[in-house]
Amino acid sequence: MRRSPRPEGGSGGPPPAEDGYAWPMLHVRQLAKWHGVAPAHTPVFAQVDLDVAVGEFVAIVGESGVGKSTLLNCLAGLDTPSAGTVTVLGTELTRLDEAGQAHFRRRHLGFVFQAFHVLPHLSVAQNVALPLMLLGAPRAQQAARVAEELAAVGLDSLGERLPQQLSGGQLQRVALARALVHRPALILADEPTGNLDPDTAERVMALLARQTRQHGAACIMVTHSQAAAAHADRVLRLTPTGVLDTRGAAHG
Ligand SMILES: Nc1ncnc2c1ncn2[C@@H]1O[C@H](COP(=O)(O)OP(=O)(O)O)[C@@H](O)[C@H]1O
Ligand SMILES: [Mg+2]
Repeated sequence: MRRSPRPEGGSGGPPPAEDGYAWPMLHVRQLAKWHGVAPAHTPVFAQVDLDVAVGEFVAIVGESGVGKSTLLNCLAGLDTPSAGTVTVLGTELTRLDEAGQAHFRRRHLGFVFQAFHVLPHLSVAQNVALPLMLLGAPRAQQAARVAEELAAVGLDSLGERLPQQLSGGQLQRVALARALVHRPALILADEPTGNLDPDTAERVMALLARQTRQHGAACIMVTHSQAAAAHADRVLRLTPTGVLDTRGAAHG
């Protein structure tokens, strides 16, 4: 990594870049993804330009199959874009090698997936503690943060349970607590309410929005749910030729 994007003990904001320009949380330029090799390649999306400010909650909507999950994975370095750049807090992720990306992800990103992805043989508290364990946080600090986060999502009495003893809405709240426990700067959520009934989905969305704002994090959520998108500060639409704001104007 060329420079630490968020120095420990610092103000928490992004440092000014060498040229004096204050980086946004996320800066994406001309991002494209295609499968296969031209001329037989299958384009997914191209020309994606996107800036997300510190503390902003952005929803990206689009039809099933348009490439929302692919885009989110490219933003995280979990998938390799075919062209373009992704810069998070001044660090150009698309220039880091795999180990560098993994290290950056662990420290600065939090994920929430549609399918929860909790580990079935670990307790709720152990699942939530995982990101802190991977960062090597001291045990006492882990326990304190896990308790705090479980309380924040309303699961403080369920830490010892196994995932199979929870409902879908409770599992998604476990996944939320896990995504936030290491206080990531950027939260990426892929259809986080896709497996929930409408009432539960609404409660989980409200919690995601509130927790994101309380942590001062930015959140990018992809969804095909207008109800979920209603919680965002800004709603963008992914198309094969870029990201449009929902008023129809080109964004970026
Ligand atoms: N290996 C592949 N080769 C060709 N097309 C692929 C491949 N993997 C995924 N796709 C296509 O990429 C598109 C985007 O998928 P995805 O990101 O999951 O969309 P969404 O999340 O918006 O539903 C889909 O149309 C899918 O068929
Ligand atoms: Mg998807």
